[in-house]
Amino acid sequence: MFSSSRQTLKYLHHVSASSTQAKRHLASIAPGILQAKPLSPSFGAEVDGIDWSRPLAPEVVREIVQLQNKWGVLVFRTTGLTDTTHVQYSKNFGALETAHAMNKPRRASLPQLYDAGNLGPDDKIIPQFSRAWWHTKGNGLWHTDSSFHQHRSSYSALRAVELPPVGGQTKYADMRAAYLGLPNDIKERIENLVAEHWIWHSRKLAAPQEFDKPTDGEKATLPPAYHKLVQIAPDGINKTLYIASHARRILGMADSESTSLIKILLDHAQQPQYQVTVKWKNVGDLVQWDNRCTMHRATAFQDQSNRRDMRRTTIHDHGPGAFGVKNLLSADDIDIRAGGKIDISEGATPETQTQEQILAM
Ligand SMILES: [Fe+2]
Repeated sequence: MFSSSRQTLKYLHHVSASSTQAKRHLASIAPGILQAKPLSPSFGAEVDGIDWSRPLAPEVVREIVQLQNKWGVLVFRTTGLTDTTHVQYSKNFGALETAHAMNKPRRASLPQLYDAGNLGPDDKIIPQFSRAWWHTKGNGLWHTDSSFHQHRSSYSALRAVELPPVGGQTKYADMRAAYLGLPNDIKERIENLVAEHWIWHSRKLAAPQEFDKPTDGEKATLPPAYHKLVQIAPDGINKTLYIASHARRILGMADSESTSLIKILLDHAQQPQYQVTVKWKNVGDLVQWDNRCTMHRATAFQDQSNRRDMRRTTIHDHGPGAFGVKNLLSADDIDIRAGGKIDISEGATPETQTQEQILAM
């Protein structure tokens, strides 16, 4: 399987120029209340027209979903949202994750807010070389939020509370365009493959000196999850590649083949023609992206001399791929070395939840 990965990689570089011409389907949206200014011809848009001082009308929420399906990444400037109104706004799109605080105790005021900045619960800059500091290094790798959860996320909504004077931008990759740009033989090869996503894999990639061996507590709290590599995007039209630096292996493949294939796919998706960069400008800026069809990465800033306070809500997916494929696997497919056995042996799993239960979360 993928025995000629070097040849495949060469082929990928060869086709990359032509893949820029392959355009994914872009839905047309009837003029509405909101105005979208594209960040690139087919990916990312800055959106105006929302009155943030009051709850959103249902038609505005519907329009945001349409824009999200079209552009993948939406930028809202100077929203004026607080922790409370940020959470209220996010609930328009579904139930919210309770943010995990593994290695980084929570400092935001609500459990639905994930701290994505460089500040600790004491409001001081997280010291260099602490476990919390090493943990954040994984955010610099291309990833999609919560793919390491069996119940994956749809949108992330990240709000700037304090910004550094330089750096700390966020880059996004269009995974629908990246899928479209793959050679046909690779598309066919990966069509039904399943990847194991494990947060401790991306932590180790970013900080091997610290996360070579996650603790039993870390493994038990965040076990791996299993999702298909190729999925239908939320627009219901385009196929998309669902991969991230959390992807540790492809089921049913030898380790070397699996590692090689993951690298090929990630290298391919990271090409500049699939990217946009969002520059954070003002406190209150909110960027909302769809984790089901994008990847992103944080860029560097002076994290020992500048403060960066970013708070994120993460919305549970309630679409057809919400729970991945773990319920279709046998215990033999779950990697005990990764701690997966801990998860599969539990009685209740997300796959048994009803839509009502999800939305009540
Ligand atoms: Fe992220």
